Amino acid sequence: MINKGIILAGGMGTRMSPLTKAVNKQLLPIYDKPLIYYPLSILMLAKIKNILIIVNKGQLNQYKKLLPNGKNLGLNITFKEQDRPRGLPDAFILGEKFINQSNVAMILGDNFFYGQNLSKLLHNCAKLKNGAKIILHSVQNPELFGVAKINNKNKKILKIIEKPKKFVSNHAITGLYFFDKNVVNYAKELKPSKRGELEIIDLINKYKIKNKLTAEFIGRGGAWLDTGSISDYYKTSAFVQAIENRQGLKIACIEEIAHLNGWIKKKEIQNQIKFYGKCEYSNYLRNLIK
Ligand code: TTP
Repeated sequence: MINKGIILAGGMGTRMSPLTKAVNKQLLPIYDKPLIYYPLSILMLAKIKNILIIVNKGQLNQYKKLLPNGKNLGLNITFKEQDRPRGLPDAFILGEKFINQSNVAMILGDNFFYGQNLSKLLHNCAKLKNGAKIILHSVQNPELFGVAKINNKNKKILKIIEKPKKFVSNHAITGLYFFDKNVVNYAKELKPSKRGELEIIDLINKYKIKNKLTAEFIGRGGAWLDTGSISDYYKTSAFVQAIENRQGLKIACIEEIAHLNGWIKKKEIQNQIKFYGKCEYSNYLRNLIK
């Protein structure tokens, strides 16, 4: 089972400026909790306990205030600074020591996933032994994403293309990936694209060429939302608000997931309540251990 995961939580957040001028996007709220809780909860649902969070240079202290070292969640969280956005595959170059010849998952710090059977899907993905696995989801505007053309009969990936000008497929490649240990060497072989960044599509293509790329689908019962632009960001917030207020259950409550996974006990949740102070989130935690 994959037991290491990277959250790529740096970036300039240009599209959300001026909100992101002083605070990193991943520390801004999606409804009632910081954005970083959502990708973190996805790794936790995949039962991944060793987590490396890559943050911008100079922002480490802000992150550590929120997520010191993971012990309070039964996790082992470490951080690494990125001096500038060099592209998504840079996660594997910066994370070489952390990865240390293991297989690894990677999730973008601004990606939101939700839906029935998600935990099961994640658990299956974490079983990856060789090759790479990407997660696909249907979108209305595939020209804005990296997409995968699939053989509908055997679900084999025929082609992957970045932002196709002509329609080839509506299966967008989401920001959650599972790689075998070769990913570090493959990332090191990449050359920056015209925009000066290493491209994730080039990295995935290395596995595709070797016939070692597979995919899982998040069907129409699930949601993958982007939080990159202001408008998408608020839509995601509204989505979380609608579901949480209807169900009385929280999405991405990291203490709840840790507790359900058997990683923390009542005592740690009580400590978290003290840490958060008097707020609605603490009330929710209090109810969990009643
Ligand atoms: P992007 O959407 O490429 O960049 P961004 O979030 O900074 O936004 P903008 O385009 O508005 O400037 O990044 C996707 C995620 O990956 C996001 O959470 C930031 C993170 N990221 C890094 O941490 N390091 C990087 O080198 C890049 C390219 C992205």
